[in-house]
Amino acid sequence: MKDKSLSPIGVFDSGLGGLTVLAELLKALPNEKIIYLGDTARVPYGNKSPQTVIRYSLENTRFLLNKSVKLLIVACNTASAFSIDAIRSAFSVPCIGVIQPGARAAVQKAFSSSVAVIGTSGTIHSRAYPEAIHRLNPDMMVFEKACPLFVPLVEEGWVDNHVTEEVARIYLGHLTGKNIGAMILGCTHYPLLKPVISRVMGPDIMLIDSAEETAYEAKNTLKDFGLLATNGAQGGYQIFVTDLHGQFSKVAGLFLKEHRLPVEQVALDEMV
Ligand code: DGL
Repeated sequence: MKDKSLSPIGVFDSGLGGLTVLAELLKALPNEKIIYLGDTARVPYGNKSPQTVIRYSLENTRFLLNKSVKLLIVACNTASAFSIDAIRSAFSVPCIGVIQPGARAAVQKAFSSSVAVIGTSGTIHSRAYPEAIHRLNPDMMVFEKACPLFVPLVEEGWVDNHVTEEVARIYLGHLTGKNIGAMILGCTHYPLLKPVISRVMGPDIMLIDSAEETAYEAKNTLKDFGLLATNGAQGGYQIFVTDLHGQFSKVAGLFLKEHRLPVEQVALDEMV
């Protein structure tokens, strides 16, 4: 019988931002094979209805299950917020999203009893982060703010300039001086804005990077299921996208600092 621990891990995101999660997985799990699906034809998910995001997420999951993945990671915060329950009830593959790991890290690491969460409009309206935080600590005060302009700014490569800093001040200015003990960067793109966000929030703010926390959770989940690839196993990754546009290399390069990315386009109707 085939050794299931040698099967790949499947990761999907609405587009290329989830490559921040792939980068952390490659660091934490060098012996694993990882298949990444970026739904670049239908990005963004952050301003779409829950029903649409759930439908896309189930289709993405089916594509990855056809590649026999042993673990599914939903790298997109919006898809995690809306779709984890639907995925878990439709499929038996072990599945983790980015919300729970981010919430757990915030509760553990916050230096006060207040936490802030920033994300897309969808993630913030879902209330998935405060619910996850309150399941762990009902006394935590949670401030939330949707920052929808951050995604296009990052994709434009404007990660550390004065326009982005001004936008960050408008979104986050009201959160300064509230003794916030940790801020969850609840969107695939936001880890790239750490320097700007730290400048706006002050140097002491503890920024929780969901990508790093998810890689740690993935390792523990594989261990729990006895599915961790052994030390000698050959790791690597493959990227599939639903649209291969002219900006692919530029945008992908922001999130994953590799020169030649192994990318292949898949047709949407292959996925249903
Ligand atoms: N990947 C999305 C997230 O983490 C951001 C981009 C989008 O809106 O699709 O919420």
